[in-house]
Amino acid sequence: MTTAPTAAPTEDGVGPAVVRTRAELRDALGAWALTGPDASDRRAVVMTMGALHEGHLRLVRRAREAAGPTGQVVVTIFVNPLQFGPEEDLDRYPRDLEGDVAKVASAGADVVFAPAPDVVYPDGDPIVRVSAGRIGEVLEGAFRPGHLDGVLTVVLKLLHLTRPDVALFGEKDAQQLLAVRRMVRDLDLDVEILGVPTVRDPDGLAMSSRNAYLSDDERQAALALSRALRAGAEESAAGRGAAAVLATASGILNEAAGVVVDYLALVDPATVEQVPADHTGPALLLVAARVGTTRLIDNQAVDVVAPPAQDAAPGQEAPRD
Ligand code: PAF
Repeated sequence: MTTAPTAAPTEDGVGPAVVRTRAELRDALGAWALTGPDASDRRAVVMTMGALHEGHLRLVRRAREAAGPTGQVVVTIFVNPLQFGPEEDLDRYPRDLEGDVAKVASAGADVVFAPAPDVVYPDGDPIVRVSAGRIGEVLEGAFRPGHLDGVLTVVLKLLHLTRPDVALFGEKDAQQLLAVRRMVRDLDLDVEILGVPTVRDPDGLAMSSRNAYLSDDERQAALALSRALRAGAEESAAGRGAAAVLATASGILNEAAGVVVDYLALVDPATVEQVPADHTGPALLLVAARVGTTRLIDNQAVDVVAPPAQDAAPGQEAPRD
């Protein structure tokens, strides 16, 4: 059994204050305001579900830069039940608050907000929720109905509770990042959203808290995702069009034993709508796949140059049994 971190900053004053209730959070935010921050100082928030890895710490370090040396960096740690489907891994999602606090302390966090579910949802499941609209119906939304609505609902609540000037999100969850950006724009929220590039292990696997579920063999199999994305990007760098990008990536995924693809798609980064076969310009190659019981997602920016005339229309989905 682990000891829960206290609600106070560590003795040496270096560690973050760990707060669990709305009142404690208000005090921590107010205490910073009373220190008379410079006009250029900002409050930056990084929202996480815990089980933190280097990808999260990159976000926290970037938040420190964005906030300024005497700005305030708030990390939220909350496994949000609203964004998990009934058959998903809410109960087994890894949790390690004590370890997480130690990690974000070294990355420069000032406050960790780690509320219990009844702090975030005092009335139980909220009746009113944010809808991700059509962004929430495709790709991740098609495989995880309601997931992005659940994400946006908690993100909006956490924005209200932490009142940041800037909020940072990882580019690995590309569809989530787009949905958050659209919410901020469409609902006129007064916060800047910064995307931070995906962090990969040396073997190419995108860092994810869910990687902890993978056995050694599954981890090897999971490398097919980043390999497929890289190969797709190389096709486009070599001057081949959208169909070739998809065909190459899909070929690698289909050959990978133990990898079951939910989707592979080449989309417009501004809408996540699939691009047409004659698309040129920036696009995002997105993949979601299951390896054993673990579901992984990854993506890669590609710049599609003029497609050769013989390129066929891209077959966007590459599901496999
Ligand atoms: O990306 C995540 O970890 C979660 O979706 C988020 C943004 C913290 C909302 O629960």
